[in-house]
Amino acid sequence: MDRIELSKAKNFKGKFTPTPDKSISHRAVIFSSLAKGKSIIKNFLRAEDPLSTMNAFRALGVEITDKNEDIIITGNGIYGLKEPPNVIDCGNSGTTMRMLSGVLAGNPFFSVLTGDESLRTRPMGRVINPLRQMGAEIIARGENRYPPIAIKGKKLQPIKYVMPVASAQVKSAILLAGLYTDGETEIIEPAKSRDHTERILPAFGADIEVEGLRVRIKGGTELKGAEVHVPGDFSSASFFIVAALLIRDSDMTIEGVGMNPTRTGLISALKGMGAGFEIFNIRNVSGEPIADIHCKGDAELKAIHITKENIPGLIDEFPILCVAATQASGTTIIRGAEELRVKESDRIKSMATELKKMGAEIEEFEDGLSITGKKGLKGTIIESYRDHRIAMALSIAALIADGTTTINGVSSVNISFPGFFEILKRLTL
Ligand code: S3P
Repeated sequence: MDRIELSKAKNFKGKFTPTPDKSISHRAVIFSSLAKGKSIIKNFLRAEDPLSTMNAFRALGVEITDKNEDIIITGNGIYGLKEPPNVIDCGNSGTTMRMLSGVLAGNPFFSVLTGDESLRTRPMGRVINPLRQMGAEIIARGENRYPPIAIKGKKLQPIKYVMPVASAQVKSAILLAGLYTDGETEIIEPAKSRDHTERILPAFGADIEVEGLRVRIKGGTELKGAEVHVPGDFSSASFFIVAALLIRDSDMTIEGVGMNPTRTGLISALKGMGAGFEIFNIRNVSGEPIADIHCKGDAELKAIHITKENIPGLIDEFPILCVAATQASGTTIIRGAEELRVKESDRIKSMATELKKMGAEIEEFEDGLSITGKKGLKGTIIESYRDHRIAMALSIAALIADGTTTINGVSSVNISFPGFFEILKRLTL
């Protein structure tokens, strides 16, 4: 049965290393598959989403071996892919589908991308429109808005593209398509989204330049094999960071967490709410900062106001931030978060509906919500909507709720964090 029962935690102590970063694992596989020669990926995330990317590139004829610790990929260059013999199933992964669209747009063969029930409702116009402007032939369901999408690749033209929505997936798809042009592609973001693509691509030999919200890439450059060490995933760590803050007398050290400043908006928000952290042992792996974080459950949290500019830096931490807000004094307001409605589930609705079932005081807006905190949560039966981050955020809510909480659909944690419940159990013993 796909559900879990959790009770109020008496204890939350220990040390753990989060699972490898999901975004960087996807990118490592994609860039290695497009490079000429051998690449090595260390600390790859073997979870459903990055495995969807890996299987997609296998279907495109790339030799990928997963033996012992490392992933070894032997690529044949950006034009070394083969027409896939079947439809490519991207599973639940928006990153796989959007980034792959950028690659396939420039490859001279036919391909079709589909996904699970959730992915087939997610907006793809945001990637199809700029790729069409570059000359790609792409059609999709629902007047070119939803998967499945069919692509007939072409020689592409460079563009200068002002992105209407801050999205690292769309930015990365256009940068990848830019490799298949003879000129310079320029992208201007409305706000800074995660910049892992820009940080890793130079190691593969790409000619890429970043200047504030502008990113430029030169086409026609061959990528060469590289070695990537994937840091711990800040988004996976975030559930434990908030749990440590909310559970009395907790004492938690999280080691080797990715601290890329485009990802750590939750730390700034929690600091604004009055939380204190010790962030130490700051170092660098594959162009990404990582650190250890020590948190204790002695903070008195107060409400915060989150606006549109804050959203890209904590886009995946919205569900767990909602849980923190239920325990803060005052009313937390989160606005400008309409992107959250088109994630693996409608995350504004999912969190508002389920936390209300647990007794939280929440008002939902089209672009966010308000949460009046300091209301004790109570255990009941709740739904994850088969969304991994909703399942994990609600699990932390269950640890601070009175009584027992039953959460349905929790195998979805395997999308980004296999072993989540085992670690939770060990730390709450
Ligand atoms: C991701 C970008 C974000 C994020 C997703 C992973 C990426 O999505 O929410 O979990 O790896 O580029 P958007 O690009 O839709 O903001």
